[in-house]
Amino acid sequence: MPTLGVNIDHVATIRQARRTVEPDPVAAAVLAELAGADGITVHLREDRRHIQDRDVEVLRKTVRTHLNLEMAATAEMVEIALRIQPDYVTLVPEKREEVTTEGGLDVVGQQTHMADVVQTLQAANIPVSLFIDADAAQIEAAAQVQAKFIELHTGTYAEAKGEAQQAQELEVLKQGCDRALALGLRVNAGHGLTYWNTYPVACLPGMEELNIGHTIMSRSVLVGLERAVREMKDVIAGRG
Ligand code: PXP
Repeated sequence: MPTLGVNIDHVATIRQARRTVEPDPVAAAVLAELAGADGITVHLREDRRHIQDRDVEVLRKTVRTHLNLEMAATAEMVEIALRIQPDYVTLVPEKREEVTTEGGLDVVGQQTHMADVVQTLQAANIPVSLFIDADAAQIEAAAQVQAKFIELHTGTYAEAKGEAQQAQELEVLKQGCDRALALGLRVNAGHGLTYWNTYPVACLPGMEELNIGHTIMSRSVLVGLERAVREMKDVIAGRG
């Protein structure tokens, strides 16, 4: 059964809407862990629209499970990761105009740069995960640059309309997962997963961790964060 990494960016989004101190994503991380989260995920964006440097620094000291830092593969972010030492880094593409991460990284198109960033972080004992589409060429490039993990982008699966298209996209994820495992990569997945579409992804053989944010935070507004996290753990375990 895969573990659950809870993405707490949205808590910081609410705080930044008023540029105040509440709600504190650090408090959200504590509650998520008490409810059974296996990891805490934050995306420190270049424009600092939600998570701030202070959040990552405090979370590094307070997270008791593991801290997954999502970031762009830039010199500034690499410097921050080396200083903060998250438990792992997930490299993601980043565009200023986007509402959320759109699509996976192009590892094929920037293989030398990716290899450098992966090497720098992993030499400092920070395992690197590459957020990519379940595309054979991207998976092979991820193995070539020696990333420890990939995170399969589940957005297309999540947006599939109807059972047939969803089954087709799940098969794409399965084949990507199998290919990555055969190349020695470890496999996580995330983006757009909900209480309704997560279980089939959780059942993919070898799937290690699911990083989920929006659906948990949306439910938490109505039922509280601890219950929302527990309910997602139940979905992953097939009890939902
Ligand atoms: N994984 C990655 C790499 C992401 O960028 C995001 C969104 O920040 C997520 C997982 C979580 O996506 P969602 O909020 O749709 O669950």
